[in-house]
Amino acid sequence: MSGIAFLLNGTPVCVTGQSPTRTLLDWLREDRGLCGTKEGCNEGDCGACTVMVTDAAGSRALNACILLLPQLQGKAVRTVEGISGPGGALHPAQEAMVSHHGSQCGFCTPGFVVSMAAAHLNGRTDHDDSLAGNLCRCTGYAPIVRAARASEDAPVPDWMREDAAFFSAQVSPEVRGQAAPGTFCPASSDELADWYLANPEATLIAGATDVGLWVTKQLRDLAPVAFLNGIADLSQIERRGGQMHVGACVTIAELRRAVAPHLPSLAELFRRYASEQVRNAATIGGNIANGSPIGDGPPALIALGATLHLRRGDEMRSLPLESFFLDYRKQGRRPGEFVAGVSFAHHAPDLRCYKLSKRFDQDISAVCGCFNLTIEGGTVTAARIAFGGMAGIPERRGSRSSAAGLCMERSDGARGDAGDGRRFQPDVGHARLGGLSDEDGAEHDVALFP
Ligand SMILES: Cc1cc2nc3c(=O)[nH]c(=O)nc-3n(C[C@H](O)[C@H](O)[C@H](O)COP(=O)(O)OP(=O)(O)OC[C@H]3O[C@@H](n4cnc5c(N)ncnc54)[C@H](O)[C@@H]3O)c2cc1C
Ligand code: FES
Ligand code: FES
Repeated sequence: MSGIAFLLNGTPVCVTGQSPTRTLLDWLREDRGLCGTKEGCNEGDCGACTVMVTDAAGSRALNACILLLPQLQGKAVRTVEGISGPGGALHPAQEAMVSHHGSQCGFCTPGFVVSMAAAHLNGRTDHDDSLAGNLCRCTGYAPIVRAARASEDAPVPDWMREDAAFFSAQVSPEVRGQAAPGTFCPASSDELADWYLANPEATLIAGATDVGLWVTKQLRDLAPVAFLNGIADLSQIERRGGQMHVGACVTIAELRRAVAPHLPSLAELFRRYASEQVRNAATIGGNIANGSPIGDGPPALIALGATLHLRRGDEMRSLPLESFFLDYRKQGRRPGEFVAGVSFAHHAPDLRCYKLSKRFDQDISAVCGCFNLTIEGGTVTAARIAFGGMAGIPERRGSRSSAAGLCMERSDGARGDAGDGRRFQPDVGHARLGGLSDEDGAEHDVALFP
């Protein structure tokens, strides 16, 4: 028997006969009558649909509107209906929302309560971050954050710990088979490589934070699809030889934690990446493969001199990340080839990442500028600089007209070569970063921001 087996508010369910791109939100509301999970934007922006998902990696808040049913195979889902306990006992976050007047019209409240309960379970007290993906249109955030603070010290209710014992154990191998017609759920990159080579027209789905919108907004039929979230060997982070090797299926939330000790500016950029719910789903592989000109991962990784690893069948190849982006939404990926991972220097003391956006939280970059300087004895001896959000691709080498991205590394002496005939002469004593000059000698300032 095939199906999608998971725990829903403590009860095992096995879902069959669904389209592979049916969202959890639609299924909860339409098939299960669990209407506490609200539909606001249906594109991952407002958090009204927040649910808590638990698996071997722990418990986290996710947006049900862009979470597709096959992504839940073997996991535990808790909706707002499952946040309260037996006999309707309120969760400490719910009690605090009542006593601190954290709700007016109530539309956003279930989403806030689930985010607060997930943060409470994980001992999080950074409420401004953990609630940044939940929008409230009438109460205002002060009473809600006060409620989150007030519940910090309350013990985690027993029922909130039950999900951790469930995942995988109760999913039999027969059920684990094909989740839904037209769906492939590989457990390893080898399985994916064979299948994708034979099905190059298929859509790969990792976190679905981009693909989910193709479903909810563009109403696209994506079958056949492969879900990558069960691929263990693409979900690893390793440090070796001065490099951090990151599998394509590592989420932005996991990557943020991993880079925080040595690349704090990159970790801070990732704090500004979407919201808690989106970071918990979005993968670095999806961020790169999507090739969005406003993606925040590529500029930072290009500044770190990242190498991209691609696989097609048994063939692996590696290339500088910047050469992967060819044109607007066009990347150098061949049919049947997928992103396996990315490697970059795990220590870059002078890396600085800046994101300019209209809102501090949960907004796309107007400009993302990443600067990785090597400074020796007060002299800039190497500089890798990349911008996103300013042109069709996150980095553009060899175009003197584009300020989308620049990569410059000194080969010798005091001057560096931008790789396209331009030279740079770093001068940290001036307000500007340095000057670019073409072979004709015309000078161009490297403006940090226009
Ligand atoms: C509300 C919201 C806010 C957002 N804010 C930001 C932001 O601030 N900064 C930012 O950079 N992005 C942002 N995004 C975009 C999105 O989160 C990222 O692009 C994300 O990293 C995509 O990863 P994913 O795993 O969800 O990819 P998916 O949606 O699963 O896939 C995206 C694309 O990549 C392909 N793909 C996925 N994995 C692979 C692979 N291993 N090999 C080959 N192809 C693959 C898919 O086929 C698809 O074409 C936001 C999205 C939403 C919904
Ligand atoms: S409905 Fe807005 S994030 Fe899901
Ligand atoms: S209480 Fe009305 S939107 Fe938050």
